[in-house]
Amino acid sequence: MKIAIGSDHGGFELKQELIEHYKGSDIELVDEGTYSLERCDYPDYARKVVDKVLKGEADKGILICGTGIGMTLIANRFKGIRAALLYSEFAAQAAKEHNNANIIVFGGRTMSKEDVIRYISIFNSVKYLDGTYEIRNKKLDV
Ligand code: RB5
Repeated sequence: MKIAIGSDHGGFELKQELIEHYKGSDIELVDEGTYSLERCDYPDYARKVVDKVLKGEADKGILICGTGIGMTLIANRFKGIRAALLYSEFAAQAAKEHNNANIIVFGGRTMSKEDVIRYISIFNSVKYLDGTYEIRNKKLDV
């Protein structure tokens, strides 16, 4: 599975930890930056990951900023993107089963690496339940 990953400076350290963690696994993380702790604007990196997902060049995306809030806001402005902030195990499960999220978001300053890795595993291990949820998800495009 190919996942495009991007962050601002607030999510940089967590991004690097995830890249290290998934090295050599069946999850290929494609690093879209940022590449240092220098202050930068999170929408610039959200756009890069959104672009990869919308073009089908990545199966899904991961975005990280300080809280995960800014990245969620910007990613959901693009038609076809369903970005979800995974803040608990249940949210990780529901983000796939109910919302069919194609970008998952984390807070580098609010979440531990261990929790984030657990949420990614849960998200990746469940399936979209379509049916009723598909009817609702279609109503997202306004
Ligand atoms: C950057 O300082 C911070 O505002 C950003 O990472 C993010 O938390 C915005 O939502």
